Amino acid sequence: MTTATADFTKRLDQTAEDTEALLAKLLSDTLLSDEIARPKRLMDAMRYSSLGGGKRLRPFLVVESSAVFGVPRDAALLAGAALECIHCYSLIHDDLPAMDNSDLRRGRPTLHKKTDDATAILAGDGLLTLAFDIVTRDEIHPDPTVRLLLTRALARASGIGGMVGGQILDLAGEGRFGDREPVDVARLQQMKTGALLRYGCIAGAILGQSTQQEYQALDDYGRALGEAFQIADDLLDVEGDAAALGKPAGADAALGKTTFVTQLGIDGAKQRVRDLLARADSALSIFGAKGDVLKAASRFVADRKS
Ligand code: IPE
Ligand code: IPE
Ligand code: MG
Ligand code: MG
Ligand code: MG
Repeated sequence: MTTATADFTKRLDQTAEDTEALLAKLLSDTLLSDEIARPKRLMDAMRYSSLGGGKRLRPFLVVESSAVFGVPRDAALLAGAALECIHCYSLIHDDLPAMDNSDLRRGRPTLHKKTDDATAILAGDGLLTLAFDIVTRDEIHPDPTVRLLLTRALARASGIGGMVGGQILDLAGEGRFGDREPVDVARLQQMKTGALLRYGCIAGAILGQSTQQEYQALDDYGRALGEAFQIADDLLDVEGDAAALGKPAGADAALGKTTFVTQLGIDGAKQRVRDLLARADSALSIFGAKGDVLKAASRFVADRKS
C-alpha cells in the first residue's frame, strides 16, 4: 500500500466512525424543540437504514473538501451527516418494490423486507426532512448566508434536477412508463448519483467561502468523480458478487437498465472510468498537495470492490 492510499484509508475509516456516532446522536430518541414525539417504529426504521453500514463516501467528500479550506471538522461532519441522510433515504426508496425491488442492502435485508413498504416510505421521508433540519443548524457556520447557500445546493442536488429527477429517468429508461425511451446515460447518471457526490465536493468550497476558481475546480472534480462512481457501480453489478457488494449482483440486467456497460461494453466502460479519473485529477491540480487525499478518493471509487 502506498503512503497516499494508507493515509486515505485511515481518513475514510475515521470519518465513517465519526459519522456513525453523529448519526446515532441525531437519530436518538431525544426530542428537539417543536417536536411532539419521535415514534418508536419510525425511529427504529430510520436507525436500521442509517447506522451500521455503508462506506460513508459522501460525508468523507464533505470533510475532505472542507479540510482544503481549513473548515472546522465538526461543522463539515454535520453537513456530511445531512448528505448521508439524503443518501440513505434514496437507497430505501430505490430498493422498494415499486422501484428496483431489491431484498438486500449493506449486507442485510432491505428496510421494506424487514418491516413493510409504508414504514420504509416514511423512514425515507423522515431522513429527507431531517437532512434539511441538520444542514441549517447554527453550528454549521456562523454566517446565515453560508448556511443558506449550503442548504439550497443540497435541495438542488437532491431534487428535481438532481437525484430524484435522475431516478425517474432511470425508471423511464427501463420502459416502466410505457415505451422504452432512448436513454442519455451520462445525463441520467449525473443526476441520479453524480449530483449528491458533487454536492459533497462543493460543500467544502461553500463552507470555506472559497474563490470562484476553487469552487469551479471542486465542481469539475465532483462531476468527474460522480460519473466514475456510477459506472463503477454498474460494472460491479456485472462483475461483482452479492457477498462482497452487500446487495444483489446482476440486478441491472434483470431489470433491463441501460448503463454504460450495456452501451459501451465492459472494456469501454472501464476506459470511460479511466478518462474520468484523469479529469478528476487534473481538476485538483490548483490545490497542489492539499488535493492528494481527494485524488486518492477518485482512485478508490474506481477500484472498489463494494
Ligand atoms: C450506492 O451507493 C448507490 C449508488 C449511488 C450507486 P454507495 O455504494 O455509496 O452505498 P453505501 O453507502 O456504501 O452503502
Ligand atoms: C441508485 O442507483 C442511485 C440512488 C439510490 C439514487 P442504483 O439503483 O444503481 O443503486 P444500487 O445498485 O441499488 O445501490
Ligand atoms: Mg436504482
Ligand atoms: Mg438500485
Ligand atoms: Mg447499481
